[in-house]
Amino acid sequence: MAMQAVKAHGAEIPAIGFGTWPMRGETCARMVSEALKIGYRHIDTAQGYQNEADVGAGIAASGVAPGDIFVTTKVMPERTSKALLVGSVEESLKKLRRDQVDLLLLHWPNPKIPVGETIAALCEAKRLGLARHIGISNYTIALTEEALRVATEPLVASQIEYHALVDQTKILATLRRHGLAIIAYCPIALGRVVGNPVIEAIAKAHGKTAVQVALRWLIQQGDVVAIPKSSNPDRARENFGIFDFALSEAEMVEIATLKRPEHLVNDRSLVPAWD
Ligand SMILES: NC(=O)c1ccc[n+]([C@@H]2O[C@H](COP(=O)([O-])OP(=O)(O)OC[C@H]3O[C@@H](n4cnc5c(N)ncnc54)[C@H](OP(=O)(O)O)[C@@H]3O)[C@@H](O)[C@H]2O)c1
Repeated sequence: MAMQAVKAHGAEIPAIGFGTWPMRGETCARMVSEALKIGYRHIDTAQGYQNEADVGAGIAASGVAPGDIFVTTKVMPERTSKALLVGSVEESLKKLRRDQVDLLLLHWPNPKIPVGETIAALCEAKRLGLARHIGISNYTIALTEEALRVATEPLVASQIEYHALVDQTKILATLRRHGLAIIAYCPIALGRVVGNPVIEAIAKAHGKTAVQVALRWLIQQGDVVAIPKSSNPDRARENFGIFDFALSEAEMVEIATLKRPEHLVNDRSLVPAWD
């Protein structure tokens, strides 16, 4: 089975991406290069991670043609005004050593700046050719609906916390109604899927690990992209090894029963008021 891509509003996003938070410096560059050698073709970074230059260095060191790699970066909330957004993306591109990112996301809503202003600036960045595609991250249902209403360019994806243990039913329904790709951050719940009895039993039946099953469950939904992070080459390889098996319908449903609203794992100070 080849690596699949999620299609949304003209974008084709490789279903597994390599997460880079909180790696920086030599570790980040080395792991990005390593991930590309393993076969990853999608790298997830952000202005706020302060590692865009390291990601650029890792891509250069990998020997993989930059044009074959889908790169996502995200604009810091402080830079999402009309005055700052485009300039901030130009800075990101210099660090990443690219003319364009494949996907430009707003990392977080900024309550001090009207959604209309931010979305207009994001669309402007796309019109200027700085991004092939644009989208949002950590936007609740109301903010997502508002962003979609005012956008003059298609929003192709939303990046949210999503994994087998958390209940994101409501936001997922909204994103699906509008045909957005769902990019799952914390896709292995920071490793907490390991040891879950249901996931472990399914993993044993397939000769796979719990992490591989948790990632397979996400991407097998068809409209979900998972971006696991690892600073360990063996684990990065393990996380990529999910295209040679499939879960049955019954296994997909069984894993879906694990979700609980209280199982959010991202840093509490960074959790939006999810619906
Ligand atoms: N948009 C947003 O606001 C937002 C928020 C959070 C994250 N993100 C993005 O999403 C990416 C992924 O999220 P995340 O890093 O928070 O969570 P994650 O990918 O669910 O978990 C990463 C953790 O799991 C460990 N791990 C990785 N592979 C493993 C394996 N095979 N077995 C056991 N443990 C394993 C890693 O440790 P080792 O490194 O030691 O392997 C690390 O501690 C981030 O890197 C970032 O790019 C975006």
